[in-house]
Amino acid sequence: MEQSKRLEFVVEGVLDAVKSFVREHGVTEQELLATLGFLTEVGKADECILLSDVLGVSVAVNDLEHAGDPPGCTPSNVIGPFWAPAAPLDNGGSLVDDNESGERLMVAGQVRSVDGRAIEAATVEVWQANANGLYDLQIPALDHPRWRGALTSDASGGYRFLTVTPPPYRIKDDGPVGRLLDALGRHHYRPAHIHYRVTAPGFETLVTMVFFSGDPWLGNDAVHADKPNLVTVIDRSCEPARAQFDLVLAPSGS
Ligand code: BEZ
Ligand code: FE
Repeated sequence: MEQSKRLEFVVEGVLDAVKSFVREHGVTEQELLATLGFLTEVGKADECILLSDVLGVSVAVNDLEHAGDPPGCTPSNVIGPFWAPAAPLDNGGSLVDDNESGERLMVAGQVRSVDGRAIEAATVEVWQANANGLYDLQIPALDHPRWRGALTSDASGGYRFLTVTPPPYRIKDDGPVGRLLDALGRHHYRPAHIHYRVTAPGFETLVTMVFFSGDPWLGNDAVHADKPNLVTVIDRSCEPARAQFDLVLAPSGS
């Protein structure tokens, strides 16, 4: 559909839905003004994306974008607020210094196509919170990127990095979106996860996250991004602990 027609269609559709809701539920002028005031604050606080995230709209749209992905590929997910370019990291290298606090975790997996072929030289960007639940971008005093890196898959499609197990963390809670969650009696937590962005020539870029079984917030993610097929197990029978997460890419144009 032509762009301006699509815009008209979307605006009219949203307004029809809002107006029927208003009529059906008797929304008052006071409630309308409170809503508009809230949206103004959300804009001023630069929390529009966060609002879409906590309402589950970001994940719903991402799911729709990927509804046609071929069966077998790794489910996609939203990129979240903390992606930034990462320095290259040797395969098997570490995201953390020796003095970093937290449980050591070796994360490994294979990058492959839906037909099972290994993908060599894929770029696997990973980023995560530290053991205190903070990303580097949330710590202004840091002078260089931390807890992120860009690996290159080997001839068997393998990738591997050492890190610390990230904890569940609170999303931003000091603005209007945080107040909305409080008013709705909703919590502010995300289950622990590591973010991925995987690129390889001839394949669609995969943006996703891996979660860890046993996490108390699984099934109850503040931004609705936890998906059962993105959960892996941490094997603590070895030192360091290990987790496996394979990355199955869709061919370009699928
Ligand atoms: C995150 O903090 O990882 C995140 C926040 C909002 C949406 C998606 C991810
Ligand atoms: Fe995150």
